[in-house]
Amino acid sequence: MPLETEATAELRALLADIKPDATDLLGALHRVQHHYGYVSAEAMRVIAEQLRVSVAHVYGATTYYADFRTTPPPRTNIGWCSGPACRLRNSVGIRDAMLATLGIAMGGQTNDGMVGVTQMQCNGSCEQAPQVWVGEAVVGRLNAARAIRLARALRDGADTSSVISETASTNGGGH
Ligand code: FES
Repeated sequence: MPLETEATAELRALLADIKPDATDLLGALHRVQHHYGYVSAEAMRVIAEQLRVSVAHVYGATTYYADFRTTPPPRTNIGWCSGPACRLRNSVGIRDAMLATLGIAMGGQTNDGMVGVTQMQCNGSCEQAPQVWVGEAVVGRLNAARAIRLARALRDGADTSSVISETASTNGGGH
């Protein structure tokens, strides 16, 4: 039996009350994803043991559902709104400017894991269009120049508050 690492022991404790039954697979995956932000290969192995299914079965479910990541999330994620109101206000140009600044593709992240960009759905705050989310915060009424400054600041680990407040004050918002 391989040596039990601290990380493996933590995973076992996290999943201890999950029944050895394949019907609990999604629940186990959600629990791991919520706790770690992604489902590692080691987590898949521990889930497979706990549920008494094959690792291939767990891997198949993990990669089938878009909800689950198999790599660590970036330190900061930019959620790009793909909704129609944002698209009418050049959100595609804003997205492409951010991706070019970061040197990544949609859904990717910088090599050092500092920042990534993912596609999000409209949440109804279209008066802020075109908008992105930085973590939980909405950064709205962007233009390409501001979006580039935001992406650069996140990439460089700099303070983003000036870029965000500049956006808010320009919009007459900031609430
Ligand atoms: S379309 Fe982007 S916030 Fe509604």
